[in-house]
Amino acid sequence: MQWHQNPAERRQHSSAKWCTYSDNELPLWVADMDCVSPPCVNEILKAAIQHGIFGYGLESPGFRDAWVTHLKLRHQWEINPDWICPVAGVVPGMRMALMAHPECRDILIPSPCYPYFQTVPKIEGRTHFPVNLWPQNGALYPETEAIKKALLSTKNRPAILWCNPQNPGGTVYCESFIKNLCAEAENANALIISDEIWADLILSEKSHVPIGKMAPENQPTITLMAATKTFNVAGFGCAVAIIPEANTRKRFKETLIAMPHVMPIAYKITEACLKEGQDWYQGLIEALRANKNQITEWAKSHPELSIITGDASFLAWIKSRNADAYLNTRFCNAGVRLSGGTPFGDPEAVRLNFGCSPDTLTEALNRMNSAL
Ligand SMILES: Cc1ncc(COP(=O)(O)O)c(C=O)c1O
Repeated sequence: MQWHQNPAERRQHSSAKWCTYSDNELPLWVADMDCVSPPCVNEILKAAIQHGIFGYGLESPGFRDAWVTHLKLRHQWEINPDWICPVAGVVPGMRMALMAHPECRDILIPSPCYPYFQTVPKIEGRTHFPVNLWPQNGALYPETEAIKKALLSTKNRPAILWCNPQNPGGTVYCESFIKNLCAEAENANALIISDEIWADLILSEKSHVPIGKMAPENQPTITLMAATKTFNVAGFGCAVAIIPEANTRKRFKETLIAMPHVMPIAYKITEACLKEGQDWYQGLIEALRANKNQITEWAKSHPELSIITGDASFLAWIKSRNADAYLNTRFCNAGVRLSGGTPFGDPEAVRLNFGCSPDTLTEALNRMNSAL
């Protein structure tokens, strides 16, 4: 795994991370990394360019098998390949899951959470039932019974839109938590839509527990996963919805009609990363652990801040203990662009993406020192 030597060069490649804000600001916001993807990605692209024909395509023959093997080896989840519904991204998958269930009017979402957890139910005309998360054991968790209470307060068929592991906060929910969530959903006849895009980016010894693995096969669950975050290929939209229950799967598949397809090259890239990207992946996890340690050290000299890095992701969730509403503005003025907390549901927080070289991170933390 290599950090890019000159990540600012990404400005010449229409990078959302590097091109959105002024050149004076170091961008540590949107969740992609300043690293070169695994070599298998370039090989696939080179072969495609050499071929030179880019017509309509199909799912690559080994795509399902790559997921089945990956889930079995990494997460001890044995799935039937027919449960897999490819989709052009996790966020589109979230929206299609709601489109497929117009009767689910009341949607439980964790708060704070990745902004699309608010946006998608809103544009689909549903009502939010936020489940507040609080700092606990270095991550963010709901209070005991919070999910049960929120389900009891719904008036229509509910859906639980969960983020496992959590963005922000990096919470890796344990088996008993996930089992309990599945049981509460079953009691309330709630659909579970679980965004598990961060499942393979766990930096501690904890293990990811997929929701679809814990629920009985006949319970309506939609588990959304992708290799794009892990292998830094988010520009090639490709994800999977894993849906064990037949009727839920049928309804989901109907929403895919006349929607954008996964690009043929994106299938191949995902397949190759899952099958051949493991050495690269080990290097990445080590590099991210080192960056996380750097932030933990930095945090010691800033007791005025609460900094949550959790067990998963390359994100840190930062808040002032003095309710500083201007934290984000201060950091921007000092030349560091973080994600502001407002779209996540907490205007006083900021989110820092540490998927960057140690040099970039050091420079950003130095600038943040001056802001504080
Ligand atoms: C929790 C979460 N879900 C989904 C996404 C984006 O998924 P996709 O690009 O596959 O739509 C992100 C990106 O940061 C994310 O953090």
